[in-house]
Amino acid sequence: MKRNLFVIAFLVVVSIILLMILVPGPIEVDDILPAEHWAEEYPDQYESYQRNLEMERTTFGGSEPYQYPEEYPFLETLYAGNAFSQDYRRSRGHPYALEDVINTERPKPAASCLSCKSSDYVGMLNEHGSEAAAMDFDEMSEIAVNPVSCFDCHRNEPGNPVVTRTHLNEALEHIEEGIDLGNLVCGQCHIEYYLHDDTKVVSVPWDRGYNAWAVEEETLARGHVDWVHPLTGAELLKVQHPEFETYMGSIHDRAGVTCIDCHMPEMVNEEGDTYSSHHWTSPLKHVEASCLGCHQETEEELIVRTEEVQGEVYEKTNRAAEMLVEFIEEFEDALDSGELSDEVIEQAREYHQRAMWRWDFVFVENGTGFHNSAFAMEILEEAMEYSQQGLELIQN
Ligand code: HEC
Ligand code: HEC
Ligand code: HEC
Ligand code: HEC
Repeated sequence: MKRNLFVIAFLVVVSIILLMILVPGPIEVDDILPAEHWAEEYPDQYESYQRNLEMERTTFGGSEPYQYPEEYPFLETLYAGNAFSQDYRRSRGHPYALEDVINTERPKPAASCLSCKSSDYVGMLNEHGSEAAAMDFDEMSEIAVNPVSCFDCHRNEPGNPVVTRTHLNEALEHIEEGIDLGNLVCGQCHIEYYLHDDTKVVSVPWDRGYNAWAVEEETLARGHVDWVHPLTGAELLKVQHPEFETYMGSIHDRAGVTCIDCHMPEMVNEEGDTYSSHHWTSPLKHVEASCLGCHQETEEELIVRTEEVQGEVYEKTNRAAEMLVEFIEEFEDALDSGELSDEVIEQAREYHQRAMWRWDFVFVENGTGFHNSAFAMEILEEAMEYSQQGLELIQN
């Protein structure tokens, strides 16, 4: 009897030891394989990934990292009191992500700023749990070596794409409909978010859905504010890069097209084998591969049509910006004169907050409205209405 107990105990101990050896623990920073590791095994994907280092401008987009505040003087007023009014460059390719976040002059409140700039953040979360978020940015960015790289969409097994970011999986718990992986894999980072005030955890407020209005309501309901505008005292939210939220519900989304159909088209190498392009850039540089499977136009015609759509959004974005600047300046003067009642001030600040969210949602979205022009025009119209109502309120 005793002997049997001893054998059972022995077997249990042996199986535990075997399990510990065979089942790998969570991936740590040092386990993350860099892009170079795959250069020989997957030369086509790797070489196209290396092309993300190229920098080229298109009419409305591209990857030249020019400074927005120099290009758009109205940002000085619209972003006053926020570091985006000083240093805000157009985004460039994925391999630059880590160095660009380290070099920006904007403040980096915590290590969670690395969430979407480095694969290594996934390892940091595994090592330290959610406490990694609030750790020191400078210390943790010294440990990080990989920018956005293979691991972010494949872990250490290139092939099928996977979601590696827990902040997205948690947000998706609130969403009932299924979303194609071709949109989710990019939506890990190309979304609007904020850092939780205390824990600095990346927060994706999708409790009411992911459209612009639902995200605004939820963020405000949670009591989060990004900054207070120094000229009007309005509490404002700063939008980041809501490509996913903008794209969903668009003409192309409804036709079943996903981010990767346009941004990772199928290419053919010299041996005649096909592979997915890993050069994430303006699809207007490879219209034939991305678009002409569906569109009957020639490459030139489709670019003209696309830029017409973008041009309309661009014009309206600038008009909405000018109206908001006018409202802010008049509001500031009216505050200085001391003639506004508390109720009027409160109401006008809310109009400022609402107009700013709507305008910023289109301005910071990469794509200049192409991803969903109907949505962009609608929400810009609302931005203009809020500025107009604000002007009327303070002029009365
Ligand atoms: C129907 C094709 C199409 C789909 C689908 C699509 N895009 Fe785009 N995307 C474009 C075009 C066209 C541009 C504008 C490029 C330009 O202005 O030069 C663009 C621009 C961008 C840019 C800025 C790139 C640059 O160089 O200016 C980013 C980032 C981006 N898209 C991300 C996404 C994400 C994320 C998704 C999915 C949620 C997505 N796109 C879905 C066609 C598409
Ligand atoms: C931003 C996300 C992302 C990153 C980063 C990424 N991939 Fe991919 N990869 C994908 C997606 C999405 C597909 C599937 C494309 C499809 O099904 O059309 C894919 C497919 C592949 C495939 C399957 C064959 C093919 O070409 O479709 C291989 C191999 C691959 N990737 C290797 C790599 C390597 C190597 C790296 C790093 C140098 C890398 N990937 C980085 C998203 C990514
Ligand atoms: C892990 C986070 C992450 C994921 C996943 C990701 N991106 Fe990005 N993407 C970024 C960051 C960060 C930048 C800006 C880098 C910079 O400017 O330093 C960027 C920039 C871009 C650009 C602008 C590049 C240029 O030169 O014009 C495009 C286009 C783009 N991403 C498309 C995509 C697409 C399509 C997917 C999905 C297949 C995707 N991204 C997935 C983080 C990510
Ligand atoms: C899977 C098919 C498919 C792909 C791929 C596709 N499109 Fe489309 N596109 C459509 C459909 C369907 C419509 C709606 C009918 C129309 O307007 O032609 C549309 C509409 C458009 C419009 C008018 C949109 C608006 O907002 O008014 C433009 C511009 C356009 N596509 C450009 C592009 C570009 C550029 C690409 C490649 C980067 C592309 N499309 C890739 C199917 C596609």
